[in-house]
Order: sequence, then structure tokens, then C-alpha cells
Amino acid sequence: MNRVTAIVLAAGKGKRMKSRLPKVLHSAAGRPLVHYPVAAAVAAGATRVVVVVSADTAAPILSHSRAAFPGVEVVTAVQPEPRGTGDAARIGLSEVGNSDRVLLLIGDAPLVRASDLEHLLAPLANVTTTVSLLSAHLDDPSGYGRVIRDDEGRVLAVREDKDIGSEERKALKEVNSGFYAARVDMLRAALATLTPNNAQGELYLTDVVAYAARDGGAAAVVGAADALVGVNDRSQLAFAEEVLLRRIAERHRLAGVTVRAGARIDDSAVIGEDARIEAGVELRGNTRVGAGAVIDTGSILTDSEVGEGTQVLPYTVMVETTVGARAQIGPFARLRPGSVIEDEAHVGNFVETKKTRLGRGAKANHLSYLGDGDVGAGANIGAGTIFCNYDGFTKHRTVIGEGVFIGSDSQIVAPVTIGRGAYVATGTTVTRDVPEDALAIGRVKQETKPGYASRLKKRLAAAKKT
Ligand code: UD1
Ligand code: CA
Repeated sequence: MNRVTAIVLAAGKGKRMKSRLPKVLHSAAGRPLVHYPVAAAVAAGATRVVVVVSADTAAPILSHSRAAFPGVEVVTAVQPEPRGTGDAARIGLSEVGNSDRVLLLIGDAPLVRASDLEHLLAPLANVTTTVSLLSAHLDDPSGYGRVIRDDEGRVLAVREDKDIGSEERKALKEVNSGFYAARVDMLRAALATLTPNNAQGELYLTDVVAYAARDGGAAAVVGAADALVGVNDRSQLAFAEEVLLRRIAERHRLAGVTVRAGARIDDSAVIGEDARIEAGVELRGNTRVGAGAVIDTGSILTDSEVGEGTQVLPYTVMVETTVGARAQIGPFARLRPGSVIEDEAHVGNFVETKKTRLGRGAKANHLSYLGDGDVGAGANIGAGTIFCNYDGFTKHRTVIGEGVFIGSDSQIVAPVTIGRGAYVATGTTVTRDVPEDALAIGRVKQETKPGYASRLKKRLAAAKKT
């Protein structure tokens, strides 16, 4: 197969989104909308992708595409004014290079599959066919362009919804998806003939179909209806996202991951075999879950990594965190950016970590704040321990050696270092470094007064009455 270039039209304003953010940058399942048609084109064999963009979206689209599709030539072509899909295609064509065939895609239809595009290329094997379009039969075709065929079923043209009468509108149920494969020579010639002679005063890419049909060169491939779900408003965005999320869950299930109904997994997440993703879990952004790991109900992981066999118990929240293998996290743990939890470590309920490393097998099981710290392997952080890392102006680090025991309800006032194997007694406020193997104890001396409790209670009761 010769090189195929894809042109993705993504310069429209997207007015119906009622948003400051351009439509194709709105996200669905963790990716900007425009990602999906580009991904489908790349999977269908396109080696070069030209994205037609408006001036304000060129930079974000280019940087996203280059990161998401390494090894694919992605370029942008700026359409200064949205003068219609025909104008956008003409601008895209100026960047196609030396391909003889192109795929044309719209940037706001994220459900198209690579297989749809492969089917579109097939009719071009016939030398007389110069354009093929993907169509579908819809019960409610309103809003879409309609495919017009003659009595023998040959494709004659595509007519836009706004340009057809009410009688035709009822009769015509085959709609144009906005995805095409075309020969570059014909396309170039056809686009040069376009005029804005229509209800919207735009240059219509769809007029290319009538141009090609004059020489019997137009074909339509009827595909599944979902491929052409276009996103024009936020209601359609929500619908398309649900379909994407279902497909992503199915993909992981068929690859050996248990995914319960109600989990939301971004397209960019990576999950190992035999992992289990429970209901209400969200795996956002570049999150990676190792083989055999469990992410239990309601946990939300963003740009984080969880190692093999690790258990993340319910309602854990993690952002930019790395957890090793066979660790146990949660329930109700909060791991903030820069947390590194090594193999077999435990982080329990109501523990918050930030920019803190917890060494192999270390434990912080209950009610703690561990910020800007480094905790050695096998250390035990008792319930209620606080790393006092902030003096109101600057953050300071706490360093705790291997095998250290921190008794419950201790405050560690940073900057401070506690040497390997040291022991901090319960309720101590640590303000100075503790050497290796030392005991640090700092608590108020207890006084005990025998028989005093009942006397005290009587006095308090009397005070209440008056
Ligand atoms: C288009 C098709 C219609 C088809 C429908 C499928 C035309 C004339 N009509 O209609 O037959 O049924 O898609 O969803 O092509 N764009 C630009 N520059 C422009 C205008 C649009 O880049 O000047 C881009 C948009 O960003 C969008 C895509 O082209 O991604 C489609 O444009 P839109 O205005 O939404 O076309 P529809 O009216 O939906
Ligand atoms: Ca549209």
C-alpha cells in the first residue's frame, strides 16, 4: 500500500459547546476529542496526519499529538477563518506531501474506528472510484448531511440538512459521517470548483461527492451508526464519552482484567493482567496498574502507578504517586504528588502523604500527615504522627532512618533527622536530631491522685446546678 495521509478537520468554532475552550480540546475519557480521529487514522495505517486547526488551537493540538503519537508525522495547517469544511480540506491538502490518497476525517466525531477507515479505503482499489464516504442509516437523521442515490443505488451527492426540503428530509435516512477516502488529484480539482452557494454560505466538502459522481467515481460504505456520532454540544459529548468508556472497559476485560460496572477508565490508563478494578473507581490520565493489583471501590487514581499485587482499599485518592509491589494502601488514604510508596509498605486510613518516600515494608497505618519526608525501610509510624513540615514560610524535610519506631501521637518538627533504629516514645515532640539507636522521649510527667475522681465529679455536678 502506498503512503496514506490523513487530514483531520478541527478548526471549527464549536459554538454550541458554549465554552471558552475550543470544542476539539474538550476531553472525553481523558483525551481531547481530536485525539480519537487521529488515533483511528494512525491505526488504519496513516503515516502522516495533517490537522487543520484554528490559530489558537495549533500549539496545544500539536504538542498533544506529538506526545501521544510518537513516530507519526503530525503537522498542523491553520485555517484563518472557519469558512466551511471544503475550505478546511483545501488548506489541509496543501500539507499532504506526496501521497496519492488521503483519508479525510472530522475532528468532532470521536467514535470512529480504525476498521471503519480501512473499509473506506477499499473502494479506491477500483481505479474509477475517486471518493468513498462512510455512511449509516439513522432513525433520526436530523442535523446530518444526507446521501442521495439514484434508482440503481449509485451515489450522486450529499445534501446538507439545512439545504433540503421537509419532504426529502423525511425520506432520506442515510446520512454522511464526514469521513472519506479520496484520490488527491480529483480532490484538488474538485475543491477548486467549490462555491458558497448554500444555506450556510460555506464551502462544503460534501460538494466533492457530486463532483466525483459525474464521472461515476463516488462510492458510499455503509457502516455502524455509532461511528458517526458527532459532538456538537455537551449533551452529545457526554453520550460519546459513555460509549468510549464502555469500549475501554471491554478492551481491558478481554485482556484479562476484571472491571466492574461503574468503573471509569481513561483511554490512556494501562492495566496488567488479573488486576481487579471495582465499581466507582476512576483511573485518570497516565495511570498504570500492575498485574494482580486490586483497586477497590471508589478509589480515584490520577497519573499514578501501582505495582503488581498491591491492594488499594476503598476510597483512596492518589495523584502523581508511585506505589511499589504488594503494598497496601487505604481505605481512605490520600497520596498527594511526589509520594513514593515502596514495595510491601502500608499506608492506612486517614493518612496523608506529600513528597514523601516510604521505604520498603514501612508502615503508617492510621491518622497521620507525612509531608516532605523520607522514611527508611521497615520504619513504623504510629497513629496520629504529624510531620510538622511548614513554619508558615518554608517547607522543611523530615528524614527517618531504617527500622525507626515512632510512637503514636508524636510531632516531628522539621527539619530533623532521626537515625536508623531509633525509638521515639509515644507523645514526643521531636525538635532536635535523634542519633541512631537512641530513645527520644519528651512528655509531660503524669500525676495520679487516689480517690480523687468521685470528689471531682461531685464538685463539677454542684457547679452545674447553680
Ligand atoms: C458535516 C458534514 C455533514 C455530516 C456531518 C457529520 C459538511 C458540509 N457537512 O456537517 O454532511 O453529516 O459533518 O458529523 O461537511 N471544520 C473546520 N473548518 C470549518 C468548518 C468545520 O475545520 O470551516 C471542522 C470542524 O471543527 C468539525 C468538522 O469540520 O470538526 C465538521 O464541521 P461541522 O461544522 O461540525 O459540520 P456539520 O455541520 O456537523
Ligand atoms: Ca459536526
